[in-house]
Parts: sequence; structure tokens; C-alpha cells
Amino acid sequence: MANEEEYSGNVKQQLAKLFDASLKAAFPTGPDVEPLVAACTSKFGDYQCNNAMGIFSKIRGQNTEYKKPASVGEAIVKNLPPSEMIESCSVAGPGFVNVVLSKIWIAKNIQKMLIGGIETWAPRLQVKKAVVDFSSPNIAKEMHVGHLRSTIIGDSLARMLEFSNVEVLRRNHVGDWGTQFGMLIEYLFETFPNIEDVNETAIGDLQAFYKASKQRFDSDPAFKERAQKAVGGEPKYRQAWMQICEISRKEFDKVYKRLKIQIEEKGESFYNPYIPGIIEKLSEKGLVEESQGARVIFIEGVNIPLIVVKSDGGYNYASTDLTALWYRLNEEKAEWIIYVTDVGQQQHFDMFFSAAKRAGWLPADGSTYPKVNHVGFGLVLGEDGKRFRTRSSEVVRLVDLLDEAKSRSKAQLIERGKAEEWTDDELEQTAEAVGYGAVKYADLKNNRLTNYTFNFDQMLNDKGNTAVYLLYAHARICSIIRKSKKDIEELKKTESLVLDHADERVLALHLLQFSEVVEEACSNLLPNVLCEYLYNLSENFTKFYSNCQVVGSAEEISRLLLCEATARVMRKCFHLLGIEPVYKI
Ligand code: ARG
Repeated sequence: MANEEEYSGNVKQQLAKLFDASLKAAFPTGPDVEPLVAACTSKFGDYQCNNAMGIFSKIRGQNTEYKKPASVGEAIVKNLPPSEMIESCSVAGPGFVNVVLSKIWIAKNIQKMLIGGIETWAPRLQVKKAVVDFSSPNIAKEMHVGHLRSTIIGDSLARMLEFSNVEVLRRNHVGDWGTQFGMLIEYLFETFPNIEDVNETAIGDLQAFYKASKQRFDSDPAFKERAQKAVGGEPKYRQAWMQICEISRKEFDKVYKRLKIQIEEKGESFYNPYIPGIIEKLSEKGLVEESQGARVIFIEGVNIPLIVVKSDGGYNYASTDLTALWYRLNEEKAEWIIYVTDVGQQQHFDMFFSAAKRAGWLPADGSTYPKVNHVGFGLVLGEDGKRFRTRSSEVVRLVDLLDEAKSRSKAQLIERGKAEEWTDDELEQTAEAVGYGAVKYADLKNNRLTNYTFNFDQMLNDKGNTAVYLLYAHARICSIIRKSKKDIEELKKTESLVLDHADERVLALHLLQFSEVVEEACSNLLPNVLCEYLYNLSENFTKFYSNCQVVGSAEEISRLLLCEATARVMRKCFHLLGIEPVYKI
């Protein structure tokens, strides 16, 4: 890995360093301020430093040579250390310092990436180890579109962190414990007196089985009482419980396999044995109080307390989550713990995070590590604007949904004549990459907090901001390179990238901003930021390609290098979004 000096990945950070030096030199006696640097799209520059106004208002009235903010801006420019990064600087309006980057420097950095690999552009984060708690369906209940969203968003966040060299524990916090298991187990014993008979085929649809047992539970008090006692440690109960989990797990795995999701199950039951000790620790700190027979933690600003031991003595979602948090911090030594669920669970997370802060497990202000974040997301809606369901108003089976995405994208490819052109394998693989990619991208491209409407026609449209459009764009770039019949590996060594055309420069600068965009998407836990970047990249490429002839031009080598760099960055974006790239179309 390149050392700090050589690190060219993050333009913003490097400029911030230069401006920091300038601010210290121009104002040695203060005020002490952080450099404020941001990319901009004005015609005056590529980046802007916005410190002048703030500094001026702090020193105004003191007897200085600075009579207006613009002169503070001038001083910032004058004291900027010389750097090959910068072509020119100017002060605009009330003191905005505009920076035009050197195109030679931009070209040099892209060449470095081509030779050293995209990993040289990996963001550098402060954390070493993180937990991403995502997907997390409940045993014996259906895995619904909400879990699909959690799976897609969580996987992408995990990928971005992993790319940034963070060790990520990908955790499936499945709901595999609680009173409903007593109910299921008891019902299982009734239906199958001989436990050996229990398997998928015998049970059939686990959700229907769940419903039937719930009915029994609600209508027969004697059954209910037996069910409530069934959550014991007896071997036959344990075995029955494991059978049920296994059946559910097989269902979940079908979805994970299709979407190529890596995740490790550490369900709620795993933390069960640790709960009493943790409640004890919290009690010793004076956090746990009695309230209406239950044991609770009061949270400032919230009128209902967090129940950690129910009035019947049992534990709940909150006791498990507090314990899991403790385990992750102390046993697994994670510094950043990220939970991906629908926004409906916001309050639960806010409350147990507050409890953890009260207990001193986490810093109170939440800005330093160890840190926790709830990554909430909105609903998936159907065409009718209501919660997404199938026609029969049953919940949508996720596997069916994914199968349909694939078969629709396959039909599109056949329509384009690919069945004749390609092998069956190629057709299958592309249909899968495009179909599943479309589902993932449609989800990730929205700000996760907003609800989004599930629409196959829209997500599989080959125009507009869709995975199909982007995957095809990438495939076209690959085909331009192939058709040139040039050996890119050889071209790279020539270091002949020049950015004389305005559209070449815009594209190249956008490529160079990849690292800071990933960093932003990571720090703010917003995959849509990366989607927007990818879409703009594709648009910038289209503009470049329609205005700059590549193959057969005098600039062919340089422009092929730019094509290759674009394809590489696009592929990394796809990878970070969990989408398989397509190389030909
Ligand atoms: N099983 C829960 C659900 O389906 C999600 C669990 C999220 N993770 C957590 N640590 N609470 O809603």
C-alpha cells in the first residue's frame, strides 16, 4: 500500500492538507480553523475552499489588514504551498477560493491507478473492525421484502467497508428465540408425535404451519399453557427447535445463494446464556428499575421505559440486543456496529443505544468510536402505493420475485437476438446478472429512508438510471477496447494519458473522485451516493465518447486508457453495490 505522502486517492483530503498549511501560515495567531474544502461544479474551478468568510467574521474589528472577506481569500491563496496538484487559484465573490486542478496531475493519478489497481484508491477509515447486522429474518416466519432491502443495503455497506480495509463481521441476527417457539414446538409435537418424521416435506410450508399453530395457541388455553412451558432446555425441545430452524434456514439460503450474499448466522438464541449476567451488570450500575412487575431502564426524553425483563421473568428483543451489543463490543472488539432494519424499529434502537451510553459502554456524544448506527429504510410499495403484495394479497415470496426478475431480463436478451449469438451459459449468466442487478440497484439508488415502488418494467428499462443501462454501458466500453485490438497492459506502460479535450478532463476528474465518494457513502451509510456517482460517470463517458473519437484517432492510445479507467471504476462500483458486471451485450 502506498504511504501517506504518495496517497493520491482522495483529492479533497489532499487539498485540505494544503489549505491547512496555508491557513496556519496566513493566520499564525489564529483563529484556529479546520479547512473547509468541497468539490464544486462552477466554471471557476473544480474545488473550493470556503474558509474566508468564517475567518473574516472572527477577526473583523480587530486591527488587521483585512478589510473584507475577499482579502482573507487572497491571503489564503498567497500562502498556499506550491503543489503539482494545482493549476491555478482565484478568489470569487465574498472570498470563495477556487482551485483548478492540474490536468497533468489528474492524468498522472489515473495512470497510477491503472498500474497499481483500484485498491490504491481505497478510502482510509479510522475503524479496523465493524459489525454489519443485516438481513436478520425470523425463523418460521416469512422473509419479506423488508428483509430483502436489509439484505441488499447491508451487503453493500459491508462491501464498501471491506474495500476500505475494515474487517467486517457480517451478522445474521435471526429471530430464533422467544415465546413463539414454545408454541411452534408444542404444535410440532402434536402434529408429529414421532420427532423423526419432521422434515421439510412433512411440514411443507413453514409459514402455514406457523399460522395453524398460532390459531391453536389463541383458541386453546391448555395448549397455550403447555406452549409457554415448552421453552425449556429439555433435549427433545431443543431437537424440535433445531429442526424448525433448519427448515427456515434452507429457505433463507435460497435467497442468499441467488444474490451471492455472504453472511454468518449468530441468531438471538446465541446471546441467551449471556443475558442474566448483562442484566446484572446493568443493575449494579443502578440502571435497572422495577416497574409494574417488569424490570426496565428509563431513558431520558422517552416516556415509556425500555423493558429488559418482562413481568413473567422472560427476556425480550431489547434484552437480547443489549446483550448482543455488549458481546460485540467486548468479546468481538468491534468499533463500529451497524444495524440495518426498517425505520419502524428506530425507537427500539434509539432506546437501547441510549441505555448503552448510560451504562458507559459507548461514548455519550456518539461522535467517537466505538460507535453504533441504525441504518433505517423505508417501505417497499406496490404499484397501488400500498405495501408491496402479490395479487392474491399474500406476501411476496422473495425467491419468486428474483426468479421473475431473471426471467424477464432473459426475455429481453432473447428479444435482442442473444439466444442465437451466445451460448446457453452466457445467456443464463447475463440474465441473472442483469435481473438481480436490476432489483438491487432499484433499491440502492434511492435514499434509503424514502419508500420505493417496486416496478419490474422500470427497473429493467435499458434507459435512465437503471442497472440495465449501466451494465450495458460498461459492456459497450469493454467492446470498444476489444475492437481496438490493442493490448491494454502494454498501453498502460506508455503513460500517455493526456486530457486536452474538455470532455476528457471532466471524465477524468470524475474518475479521480471515486475514492472520496466511496468514503462519503461509507461514513454516512448511504449507498445511493455511490449510485449517483456511477450514473454520472456513465453520463460523462457518453459525452466524452460522442465528442471524442477513440479508435482510429490520433489520440487513440490516450483515449483507450481513459476507456479502461472508466470500465475499471464502473466495475468497482458494481462490485460495491453487489452487482455482477457484464462484459458483452
Ligand atoms: N429479526 C428482526 C426483524 O425481522 C431484525 C433484527 C435486526 N437486528 C437486531 N440486532 N435487532 O425485524
